Amino acid sequence: MRVSRRALILSAGAAALGPLVRVRQAIADDGTKELPLAAQQAVANVTGDGHPATAVWSYDGIVPGPELRVRQGDRVRVVVSNKLGEETTVHWHGIRVPNAMDGVPGLTQTPIRPGGSFAYEFTPPVAGTFWYHPHADTLQQLGRGLAGAFIVEEREPVAVDRDLLWFIEDWRLDEGAQIAPGFGNRMEAAMSGRVGNTITINGRIPDRISVRAGERVRLRVVNATLARIVSLRFEGHRPVVVAHDGQPCEPYMAEGGRLVLGPAMRADLIIDMDGKPDQSYRVIDDFYQDLAYKLVDLAYGPAKPTRERPQDLPLRLPRNPLPEPDLRSVERHEIALRGGMMGGMGMMGGMGDAAWTINGTSMTGDGQPNMPPLFTLRRGQSCMLVLRNETAWWHPMHLHGHSFQVISRNGRSNPRREWRDTVLVPPRETVQVAFVADNPGNWMFHCHVTDHQMAGMMAVLRVA
Ligand code: C2O
Ligand code: CU
Repeated sequence: MRVSRRALILSAGAAALGPLVRVRQAIADDGTKELPLAAQQAVANVTGDGHPATAVWSYDGIVPGPELRVRQGDRVRVVVSNKLGEETTVHWHGIRVPNAMDGVPGLTQTPIRPGGSFAYEFTPPVAGTFWYHPHADTLQQLGRGLAGAFIVEEREPVAVDRDLLWFIEDWRLDEGAQIAPGFGNRMEAAMSGRVGNTITINGRIPDRISVRAGERVRLRVVNATLARIVSLRFEGHRPVVVAHDGQPCEPYMAEGGRLVLGPAMRADLIIDMDGKPDQSYRVIDDFYQDLAYKLVDLAYGPAKPTRERPQDLPLRLPRNPLPEPDLRSVERHEIALRGGMMGGMGMMGGMGDAAWTINGTSMTGDGQPNMPPLFTLRRGQSCMLVLRNETAWWHPMHLHGHSFQVISRNGRSNPRREWRDTVLVPPRETVQVAFVADNPGNWMFHCHVTDHQMAGMMAVLRVA
């Protein structure tokens, strides 16, 4: 796949990854975790020392926003105050919240006015790696830096030496390291979306991450980009995938050593650092074949291995309580994704501002009042979505309020049956996912390439 864009400016001012992520928590009298969060403008040094700082939109003045960390079953109250010059909302991506806390403007709440605030209250029922981002003017707000990780810790965490987060963002910067304008370019919206030219981990262009020989690391990887799919290859290492989108899976070695994450997707990896002291090992992103680049080095210190042999301890995370769909009584819904640019042949059909459709209909924007549902599901009903991608582009399709099991790809059953909240559907392929519609409300279902969502690849599923 080819994407034309300027060369990556990755080598500029690379920095070693330090403790750049701030963790936030406070406990109120009634045991609720109180987490104030302010959406505001800020300046951040994303390109490294000696390079100009970048004007960003941020949570609490930092990019990414603070890592919000709670324990499974904790009651959480996040009071979001809006210090931006425009309306905003926050969506808790992948967390099962009550519909009124889902952050979709018009559909589930009135957007937060400039100067206003809104208290999001929920109790995450499952543990895992989630994230939060705006659902208003999403292309610009997410593209200017509003996003952060939301970690729900297991009641009994797995034994690892370190628990690390890689929050991956993709910026389109100009020569002065400022965010390039031009959000919502119609040509891009009909193609790959706004792919940037500068990739950061935890808010900085990374150079190396220090590791110790023999340690076992849990690495939580979040793809928080607008449009960039990444395929990470850890040279000299054998990462074990233990969770997708926060949901534990049967641990397995990533196929061909590659971890593919579309926008909004996450994975938890367990990596035994069995490289040699004083050596460096590259982590390569080679999703766009002719544009492979080194994301970061795993840099070993001089210390001898902390243990002689890799640990035998189990890698399996405790299961999350998710209801299994009953495939015999499942209600099937066919979902056809169409539109976009076809290898230079122009758009399919004349659709005005919209470039994409779901079953022939384009819902554009971030969410609106009175969006008619694509279909309505009875509460408790098992549902199968047959996602048919009839376009020439990749689409990471996300359902709010639920996680689903990936049942099959192109008619071949998927033995892994992993749970996800966002599934990457390659061009011309069909993916079947199933879930129990047990969370009542109006739920967004959309492509997480933000340009695609804005340009029509969005729908609402109602659970009555
Ligand atoms: Cu991260 Cu509507 O989603
Ligand atoms: Cu898409």
